[in-house]
Amino acid sequence: MEIKFEKREQLKEKPDQKNLAFGKYMTDYMFVCDWHEGQGWHDARIVPEGPIPMEPSCMTLHYAQETFEGLKAYRRDDGKIQLFRPEMNAKRMQNSNARLCMPEFPVEDFVQAVRELVKVEQDWVPSEPNTSLYIRPFCFATEASLGVHQAVAYKFIIICCPVGAYYATGLNPVKIMVEDELVRAVRGGTGFTKCGGNYAASILGQVKAEKLGYDQVLWLDGETRTYVEEVGSMNIMFKIDGEIYTAPIEGTVLPGVTRDSMITLLRDWGYKVNETHLAVTDLMKAGHDGRLEEVFGTGTAAVISPVGELRYKDDVVAINDEKTGELTQKLYDTLTGIQWGKLEDKFGWTQVID
Ligand code: COI
Repeated sequence: MEIKFEKREQLKEKPDQKNLAFGKYMTDYMFVCDWHEGQGWHDARIVPEGPIPMEPSCMTLHYAQETFEGLKAYRRDDGKIQLFRPEMNAKRMQNSNARLCMPEFPVEDFVQAVRELVKVEQDWVPSEPNTSLYIRPFCFATEASLGVHQAVAYKFIIICCPVGAYYATGLNPVKIMVEDELVRAVRGGTGFTKCGGNYAASILGQVKAEKLGYDQVLWLDGETRTYVEEVGSMNIMFKIDGEIYTAPIEGTVLPGVTRDSMITLLRDWGYKVNETHLAVTDLMKAGHDGRLEEVFGTGTAAVISPVGELRYKDDVVAINDEKTGELTQKLYDTLTGIQWGKLEDKFGWTQVID
């Protein structure tokens, strides 16, 4: 793929690396590529980051044909920059686009676009501990029309922002509320995709949880509201009696890159990982019986997030005395060690940008 480059007149001022938070400061450039029916993907370019002109009748604003991804570029101690399993994000976006009837962006072009954009933005990749450059690819319909149909025009864009921890609490345990009324996904729906609509539908649950003093929502399966599935911005894993439990990838749960990496590490260390349906009532009982040893969320933005408290209806359990568990800490140290190039990458997950 040939990528044109349009230089910016004036570069932006970079934020203080010690106060980045998440997703606040966009870099100088973005990657853009257009798709039109009969023409396919064309005009790949890296241009100054800025507003995207859009008709008020742009189909995305009405019918939400939109998908996105999230990955990171990491600054190693030797100054080099590396990516973590970008092909998995590219492939997942293809699956999301296929479900939403949107054209699939080729995997090799996705990885090339990410690599070239990060190369242009290398001065934006922070070096403070636990900071990285978050990369947000997204795709949406651009056709101006109010009929509900597969659009004839789309854009694929990549923006980037330097980030610190996703949660203000850092690696301190979060409190999670199990949502027993609203649902996030049902089989045959879009639960396995990263589409904006999934997140729009989750915000009411998040607001409810926050009103009760909780940080995030744990969603149950949409059909029976019995089995634990996923947290708002992460997959979730439970350590019960020394074994790990997490929801299976059967169409309702996001196939997380961090989830897959954690499962690989856990199995490599000899843990039994059960990708199975776990009833929330069994989970709470394990908590009360002292068998629920650790709970943690996994995701690109959050990395790994220990859970210190779970609430289901009026039942509340504290996990590991509301402290970060030993295994959670080991997973965090190992994964971030590989991502920042401090530990050997025996699975070949990272790739240097040169
Ligand atoms: C990610 O972990 O990259 C995500 O996309 C989660 C999110 C911030 C919605």
